[in-house]
Amino acid sequence: MKILVLNGPNLNRLGKREPGIYGSETLDDLAARLEKRGRELGAAVETRQTNHEGEMLEWLHEAADGSVPVILNAAAWTHTSVAVADAVAQKTAPVIEVHISNVHSREPFRHHSYISAHADGILVGLGTDGYLLALEHLAR
Ligand code: DQA
Repeated sequence: MKILVLNGPNLNRLGKREPGIYGSETLDDLAARLEKRGRELGAAVETRQTNHEGEMLEWLHEAADGSVPVILNAAAWTHTSVAVADAVAQKTAPVIEVHISNVHSREPFRHHSYISAHADGILVGLGTDGYLLALEHLAR
């Protein structure tokens, strides 16, 4: 089973970016953790990140065409992008929405997600462990 882990803007900066909010783990470290846990669970996990919205749309289309489950942290696009939400709506396999921080305890503009209405599940505020929990759920 293949699982795509798709990350939106600024998440390439994990580890350096506001560590008090997002922690000190880098995206490479997280990707390695996900790949290792995936192997244990019999899933081939591929982690990607982009700062370009069109690229994210194309990855979501690829997942829909291949019926590949997705763990999605759309980062700021969560709160702004109808286009990303429309791409998620085309899913043919589960999509789990993840946020490292508890967006509901932060600024009001982070409280609304265009993605959530189309997500099969949402993990918020559990740090990068949220990705691992999403992986365990999808692999089950
Ligand atoms: C985030 C929360 C978003 O509000 C923010 O724009 C991000 C990261 C999170 O993982 O906590 O870039 O999705």
